[in-house]
Amino acid sequence: MILYFSATGNCKHVATTIARALDEKALSILDAPKEFTLEKGERFGIVTPTYFWELPIPVRDYLSELELELSGDNYTFLIATFGTTPGCTGEEGRRLLAEKGVLLDAAFSIRMPDNWTVWFDLSNPEKVASQNAAADVQIQKVLDQIRTETLGNRMKRKAPYFVKTFTDSAFDSARQTKNLYVEESCIGCGLCEKICPVHAIELKENKPVWVKEQCALCFGCLHHCPKFAIQYGNGATKKHGQYTHP
Ligand SMILES: Cc1cc2nc3c(=O)[nH]c(=O)nc-3n(C[C@H](O)[C@H](O)[C@H](O)COP(=O)(O)O)c2cc1C
Ligand code: SF4
Ligand code: SF4
Repeated sequence: MILYFSATGNCKHVATTIARALDEKALSILDAPKEFTLEKGERFGIVTPTYFWELPIPVRDYLSELELELSGDNYTFLIATFGTTPGCTGEEGRRLLAEKGVLLDAAFSIRMPDNWTVWFDLSNPEKVASQNAAADVQIQKVLDQIRTETLGNRMKRKAPYFVKTFTDSAFDSARQTKNLYVEESCIGCGLCEKICPVHAIELKENKPVWVKEQCALCFGCLHHCPKFAIQYGNGATKKHGQYTHP
């Protein structure tokens, strides 16, 4: 069983590619049961984006609520996709699973286009395509390591866990929904409301309204809007383009 959280498709691509190759099932964390027993020899994988060097809130919440029973010979792994650094995600995942009595056998990372377009420019399709081609090579390498049941935290560019003390507060302030806004070009299609994983958006008079003070800051609404009408902060997101994995 390979579970993923994915706002713009990178993690879904990694999870489904790996699941297909290993003859395992890939399922979104948002649709996955919170209680299950692995079959003997079944692998258990989590594929997650990195947000502010940490696990996304939906992944953290899922792992905190998970009741997972192992049946012997199970191999467990976490893969974080990232743009610059996967930060503390591997160690955070290991700790959350350990609290459930589950040992995380390995953690890997795969560098992909960085959908934090407040800073990163994804407006050049050739550049983005070449980043995704390089990611596909890394996916195959990670796949080999999963097949041979490699152990340990194998993440590239990871950060020590104490850094989380600082990233916690930065993320907390960044994910205030007052930072998100909608432009006139909105056509009221309702997609943003439908896809928000934490139900932070409601359509009122055919325009999205952020009804929670904080959200998961997945950028799904911003990158999927058919009119690119949702922006963040000072508007740098506008010139950096929209992104979804092909
Ligand atoms: C709010 C936010 C914060 C992010 N923080 C980081 C980060 O700390 N380090 C990093 O390398 N990438 C970061 N990213 C980039 C994503 O982790 C990366 O693009 C990921 O592959 C997206 O996965 P998805 O397409 O499955 O949603 C961030 C993205 C967002 C939206
Ligand atoms: S997805 Fe975009 S166009 Fe559709 S309602 Fe939301 S902001 Fe408006
Ligand atoms: S409001 Fe947008 S950025 Fe925030 S969690 Fe919902 S979809 Fe993601």
